[in-house]
Amino acid sequence: MAKEPRTYRSAHSYGKDDKDGFLHRSWMKAQGFPEDVFDGRPVIGICNTWSEITPCNSHLREVADYVKRGVWERGGLPLEFPALSLGETQVRPTAMLFRNLLAMEVEESIRMNPIDGVVLLGGCDKTTPGQMMGAASVDLPTIVVSSGPMLTGKFQGRDIGSGTEVWRFSEEVRAGTMTMDEFKAAEAAMSRSRGVCMTMGSASSFAAVAEGMGLALPHNAATPGVEAGRFRIGHLAGRAIVDLVRADAKMSQFLTRKHFENGIRVHAAMGGSTNSIIHLLALAGRCGVDLTLDDFDVFTRDIPLLANISPSGDFHMEDLHYAGGVPAVMKELESVLHLDVPTVGGTTIGDCIADARVWNRSVIGSLAEPAKELAGTWVLRGNLAPGGAIMKPSAASPELLSFEGRAVVFDTIEDYKARVDDPDLDIDETCVMVLRNCGIRGYPGMPEVANMALPKKLLGKGVRDMVRVSDARMSGTAFGTVVLHVTPEADVGGPLALVRDGDVIRLDAPNRALELLVPDDELERRAREWSAEDRSRLRGYLKMHDQHVLQADKGCDLDFLQGSSGDVVERESH
Ligand code: FES
Repeated sequence: MAKEPRTYRSAHSYGKDDKDGFLHRSWMKAQGFPEDVFDGRPVIGICNTWSEITPCNSHLREVADYVKRGVWERGGLPLEFPALSLGETQVRPTAMLFRNLLAMEVEESIRMNPIDGVVLLGGCDKTTPGQMMGAASVDLPTIVVSSGPMLTGKFQGRDIGSGTEVWRFSEEVRAGTMTMDEFKAAEAAMSRSRGVCMTMGSASSFAAVAEGMGLALPHNAATPGVEAGRFRIGHLAGRAIVDLVRADAKMSQFLTRKHFENGIRVHAAMGGSTNSIIHLLALAGRCGVDLTLDDFDVFTRDIPLLANISPSGDFHMEDLHYAGGVPAVMKELESVLHLDVPTVGGTTIGDCIADARVWNRSVIGSLAEPAKELAGTWVLRGNLAPGGAIMKPSAASPELLSFEGRAVVFDTIEDYKARVDDPDLDIDETCVMVLRNCGIRGYPGMPEVANMALPKKLLGKGVRDMVRVSDARMSGTAFGTVVLHVTPEADVGGPLALVRDGDVIRLDAPNRALELLVPDDELERRAREWSAEDRSRLRGYLKMHDQHVLQADKGCDLDFLQGSSGDVVERESH
């Protein structure tokens, strides 16, 4: 083998002829590795969030084998290791509570081990952001390889999408227009293959962000999880990560302000999940990029919806793949992207999309003829959300974007569930539904419940959308006129905690305003009466989360995890 151009980080462990070198190499040889794989070649960690309880990532062991092919082929040594796997539909109380725990684990796992570069295998909603945050705080050469979306759901002769149809079906069952047998049959029909939700949920949104930023190879986001192309991306990523290590191209080279701006714009054109905003703010905090909540409004104002993908559009990720994938969407956006920024594939973004084409105009629109004019994220402010709140206009009802209504307040999600279908609940379609104490600290973990289902009696009348306001999050697969991430959250004494039944709330989304029409002196009086919940019962990770988690406008990271500590470990283990 040709001599490596330089000495890598792993040489601290594998390149020594003393007792320490013996210790590091000998136990590795127990796995059958011959002497010459410790000859100074790049050692590539494959950080795998595979798990059978994270079905979206359950095929990543197989994908890892293809990454290893590419690493071996380029003369590297691939070593796979596990990381906390967060199955969005399985983890309670919510996977978001543990994103930072995953990020901590990934950061320390990368730093503590004798590796020179990392391939992050993730997919389900919180796995990719958690891995990227952790990796960014170490800053080795890093590539993202995603699970890829499931095949499109098929039910009763039509296409159905993950998540999105769950909300619809459950409302139809409650409205009496769908039987329980049909509801059960739809479960298997919706989830037809392994991979992530095939709507523009949080998983595909963040995979698209990673691709848009150049941290993943082209077509990473939309190639289905079960297609041969998924394995090909793994194989190519294996080659590319060895090249990145040899070029000493650290992750931070692909995490500049320009990379973030590209990611935000691609995300808007895709109709991406609001969850990505929190993750990108947290990621920016890890690498010292000055990104604010308002950037998501500013940088998406001129971006219409190009990807006609559910829940904002009519198609699914599989259709997007056949129509040209994320590169084709980016090609349509090229006039507003930074084309000169480098990517992990060794080329620029401009090179990546030079030959991209749109093969189906029903699925991918153009700036001149978009799928929808409204896209991106609107950042609302006002006395009800001094730290900001957001809404996704492409998922909202246009006639509700400017609205004034009487508040009906639910103190907790349990309170909501207990009362929402009470026939005596004083509510109609002229009201604003308020759900609080569902923030990152209060719930804890900020569950995806902001898009609370409407009262049964209103569904029965044919009402399908109402203005809803919450400090919770909303699934990327959900829809509705929902104001979410209200900051500060109620649990820390934000104004949301002071709203009472009957107060009037004014939403003026086109002017980015959210106001509680209650006099200041009355709000001050209510604030004096408010008291925080006793948290002394908490221990372990939940206590740490409670004491250190930042609000949504700062990305919900733990305060002491912001920034980077690099990859240096000073001391030996024995
Ligand atoms: Fe895993 Fe949707 S539940 S990606």
